[in-house]
Amino acid sequence: LHFFSYYSAGCRLNGGCGCQEVSRFHFQREKKPGEDDQGKKKRKNKEKSWASGPRDPFEMLDALPEEKQQEIQKALHLFSLGQGPPRSLAEARRHTYHFWDTQPVLKIGEVTSPGPVATECGPAREDPFSLPQGFVWDTLDLQNPTELGELCAFLNENYTEEDDNTLRLSYSPEFLQWALCPPGWQQQWHCGMRVNTNQKLVGFISAVPATIHVCDTAKQMVEVNFLCVHKRLRSKRVAPVLIREITRRVNRHGIFQAVYSASAVLPTPITTCRYWHRSLNLRKLVDVNFSSLGRNMTLQRANKLNRLPQMPKTSGLRPMSESDVSAVQDLLKSFLRGFELSTVLNREEVQHWLLPRDGVVHTYVVQSPEGVVTDLLSFYTLPYTILNHQVHKILKAAYGFYYASTTTQMLELMEDALIIAKEKGFDVFTMLDLMANRSVLEQLKFTTEDKSLHYYLYNWKCPSLTTDKVGLVLKR
Ligand SMILES: CC(C)(COP(=O)(O)OP(=O)(O)OC[C@H]1O[C@@H](n2cnc3c(N)ncnc32)[C@H](O)[C@@H]1OP(=O)(O)O)[C@@H](O)C(=O)NCCC(=O)NCCS
Repeated sequence: LHFFSYYSAGCRLNGGCGCQEVSRFHFQREKKPGEDDQGKKKRKNKEKSWASGPRDPFEMLDALPEEKQQEIQKALHLFSLGQGPPRSLAEARRHTYHFWDTQPVLKIGEVTSPGPVATECGPAREDPFSLPQGFVWDTLDLQNPTELGELCAFLNENYTEEDDNTLRLSYSPEFLQWALCPPGWQQQWHCGMRVNTNQKLVGFISAVPATIHVCDTAKQMVEVNFLCVHKRLRSKRVAPVLIREITRRVNRHGIFQAVYSASAVLPTPITTCRYWHRSLNLRKLVDVNFSSLGRNMTLQRANKLNRLPQMPKTSGLRPMSESDVSAVQDLLKSFLRGFELSTVLNREEVQHWLLPRDGVVHTYVVQSPEGVVTDLLSFYTLPYTILNHQVHKILKAAYGFYYASTTTQMLELMEDALIIAKEKGFDVFTMLDLMANRSVLEQLKFTTEDKSLHYYLYNWKCPSLTTDKVGLVLKR
């Protein structure tokens, strides 16, 4: 209970984040008028009784065994249910968006035709937005392995979305370089917030350039991602400052639109999709509580139902290589053109996003006997760290990325993606129900969870879309 009361008493800025100035401010009582040295002595003695252990409540929390920490995290999660942004449209209608109502985004329930929300976009301000005392902006240099490693550690500690804190997304430096440094990337758009005194990274937001096709218009936008605030600085209105600052930095480059996704309901989703999971290693998924077996279902039976062929079925399927870039670009161009919201990739972007990279992205093409590239499938890698399990430490997850099919049936292409992923040692294959995915997910024995992911546009009006109208995969 000690920890809960500290946690909820607004002491979150303290030593845990390294902000010692604030820590002293909170913990040192001012001397009362007339108080003598004896009082001081008594207090000193009282403090001495703590002397054997760390004084800072967060150090104390950190010093607990991992299992205890998780119990506390679970309890905190339970206590905090009902706080934070809305999770459904019904809640959103009742919610007052103190920040989002000031932004050029559609209001909840507003119906519209395509176009910018704010037609007048004056010159962006030169000066960064102010941060609370004790914090400073920092532009991260992701070419520097130390800073890249620091960002990895920060996201891995704080970006997890799993409520019960048993699984934690595990970003690798290679993954972050892929996700954050595509062609045209700007260092200014890797925007960090640090504690002034010890330079600890406590906030981050990023943008990468993207050409987005939305309802007949192709617009130069940015994809905003990796918005993250240190766990101990939550609910303190830091997120709006990070969002305003990245908006300013992007506006400085003459770009006024963005696309982003969130599990929270904000004004206003253009589409709402779900994650679907296909077990590749069911025993392990059950062991670590990622999946559960239905009633009357045994592991043996479930494994039998989920069994996949040993080898891909499509003849001519092979890893994509440099010489396929133009063909893949053409395939994607004509496939994605059919969607109301989609990405438009130039040659360099196809090279960056799709050429296979070890441990990051896997892309396969189907080549006909005449040497023509007819189909494409791809998935990216984002593992989880499994906390507190005696046997398993890592859960290997593959995420469906872009595909295009002209001659191979989509069902066959997707099944091959599962077979390849299993052969590569992945435990689970995850897809969003975008594009034409919905038509094959159930047949391929994917199951869904009840969490939604909403897609948003900043400063661009667009009528709401069903997920099969969306040809844009935003990375986790
Ligand atoms: C998302 C996160 C940065 C929000 O920070 P927070 O401390 O909970 O919220 P703050 O007090 O700083 O700000 C609250 C405002 O941010 C908005 N907000 C919350 N989550 C948001 C999100 N994912 N994207 C955009 N805005 C968000 C809230 O709606 C609220 O604005 P409002 O008054 O208009 O409703 C934080 O919870 C976090 O780091 N979570 C883990 C990583 C994560 O889930 N990132 C988002 C991935 S989509």
